[in-house]
Amino acid sequence: MLTVDNKEDLRAQLNEWRHQNDHIALVATMGNLHKGHIALVKEAREHAERVVVSIYVNPTQFGPGEDFEEYPRTLERDVRRLKSAGADLLFAPTDLTMYPFGIENATVISVPGLSQNFCGASRPGHFDGVTTVVARLFSLLVPDVAVFGQKDYQQQLLIRHMTEDLSLPVRIVTSPTVREDDGLAMSSRNSYLSADERQRAPELYAALSAAGEALQNGNRDFEALEEGAADRLREAGFDVEYFAVRRAQNLEVPDRDCDELVVLAAARLGRARLIDNVVVTV
Ligand code: PAJ
Repeated sequence: MLTVDNKEDLRAQLNEWRHQNDHIALVATMGNLHKGHIALVKEAREHAERVVVSIYVNPTQFGPGEDFEEYPRTLERDVRRLKSAGADLLFAPTDLTMYPFGIENATVISVPGLSQNFCGASRPGHFDGVTTVVARLFSLLVPDVAVFGQKDYQQQLLIRHMTEDLSLPVRIVTSPTVREDDGLAMSSRNSYLSADERQRAPELYAALSAAGEALQNGNRDFEALEEGAADRLREAGFDVEYFAVRRAQNLEVPDRDCDELVVLAAARLGRARLIDNVVVTV
């Protein structure tokens, strides 16, 4: 597996592969790779002959006081994992490669509306940082396919929206959430949980699953479901940011007859901010 940190080496390698008529899939990450990321690499392999993984802890998607400085950076271990997962190239760009004019002078890509709700409401500017860096990765690589995790449901919706709106020639694939045995969605931030919090953390997925099951069984009192689940999580010690039943397609408030729903939640447990969701098709 090749590792490159600049645009010239990246383009040279990608051009060589394109000459061989190989398709290119991108898995964008911030590193500290776990089985969830590796599942995306495997998914990417199903769609293209060449898989590029990017590792870049993107400063523009972290707000003031968030965990940019302490975000786990584990490049050596990540490289070993990517090699054994069969990735073809690791793109680990420098700040100057990603933001040639500096962050202050960077062109910002911002999706209105959708970027302001839910995680966007509790993390102002976060999604502008995400769409800005993903647009940059797409224009540096021009991958045929890019794979994102369902775990970050709102993120993959925003990226789909941006890609369609800007007519970027990239097909977006969303890959299912990979979980620990007890249901907790894998996340780099799970390492912030104390032993006691780690024991309580699966309650988030349990509450989402229970709401999903109720919807599946025909319950259409969305507000009561949301409030009941939020109470349940508070009792388990979570500080609930949101727990919401929405239209899977665009996160709008659903009608009773909507048949593609998503239940999404974000909650803090100690220092860790956990997010998760379940999609319900009725
Ligand atoms: P990061 O949190 O490293 O996640 C990289 C990708 O892995 C995202 O598409 C995310 O949804 C996916 N992922 C994380 N945990 C997962 C799990 N348990 N199961 C399946 N997929 C999972 O998301 C980001 O980085 C950044 O915002 C990024 C898109 C790279 C832009 O900087």
